[in-house]
Amino acid sequence: MITYKQIISPSEDLKSTILKLLNVTQGDGLFEMNYVERKLANDYVAGAFKNDQLIGVGIARSMGPNDFEYYLPFGLEIRLWFQKYQMGSFDTLAIEDAYRGQGIGQEISRMRLKWLKEKGCNRVIGVSWVSGLAHTSNRVFEKMGFKAFKKVDHFYRETSLKHPFDCPGCKVHPCSCAAILYVYENL
Ligand SMILES: CC(C)(COP(=O)(O)OP(=O)(O)OC[C@H]1O[C@@H](n2cnc3c(N)ncnc32)[C@H](O)[C@@H]1OP(=O)(O)O)[C@@H](O)C(=O)NCCC(=O)NCCS
Repeated sequence: MITYKQIISPSEDLKSTILKLLNVTQGDGLFEMNYVERKLANDYVAGAFKNDQLIGVGIARSMGPNDFEYYLPFGLEIRLWFQKYQMGSFDTLAIEDAYRGQGIGQEISRMRLKWLKEKGCNRVIGVSWVSGLAHTSNRVFEKMGFKAFKKVDHFYRETSLKHPFDCPGCKVHPCSCAAILYVYENL
C-alpha cells in the first residue's frame, strides 16, 4: 500500500533519499542538501511511501510579492500577478521511475494544492520541464486543472551555465530543454 504524508523533521537518511530522488529524476547536481533543508524548514514537502520506502516527493511554497524574478522569462506581466494575488508555487515533483503513471504525482499535487489553499494562496503557478522523457509533469498539471500559460525554449540554459548539472532529458550542456508555465487561477 502507498501512504502519503507531509515530511516534517526527517532523519538524515530520509533527507539523503529525498535529495537523491530529486537529482536522479531531474539531473545529477541540480539540487543540493541545503535546498532540501530550506524547503523542509520553510515550505511544504509531501512524500509518498511504499513500505516506508520513499517513492515520490513534491514541494510547494507560498510566495511573497517579490518572488517573481524566476518567472519573468514567461512574461513581464507575471510581476503584476505577484502584486494582485497571494501566489503559490508547485516547486518540484519527482516520482521513482517504477511508480510513474499511477496517479502518485497527482495525489501529492492534491496535497500541495490543499496546503497552498490553507496558506491563503489564490493563484498557483508551476514550471513544467519539457524533458522529452516518457513521463512529464504537464499531464499532472493539466489533470489538476492548471492551464498552460506560455512555453519558453532553453528555459534552463542560464541556470545550467551558472550551476552545471547532467540533464537526463536533453543530455547536453548547457541544458537545452524548454519549459511551460502552468497557472491555476481562483484557488
Ligand atoms: C512527472 C512526474 C512527477 C509525474 O508523476 P506521476 O506519478 O508519474 O504522474 P501521475 O501518474 O499522477 O499522472 C500522470 C497522468 O498522465 C498519464 N501519463 C503519464 N505519462 C504518460 C504517457 N507517457 N503517456 C500517456 N499518459 C501518461 C498517467 O497515466 C496519468 O494519467 P491517469 O491519471 O489518467 O492515469 C513523474 O512522472 C516524474 O517524476 N517524472 C520525471 C521527473 C519530472 O519530470 N518531474 C517534474 C519536473 S517539472
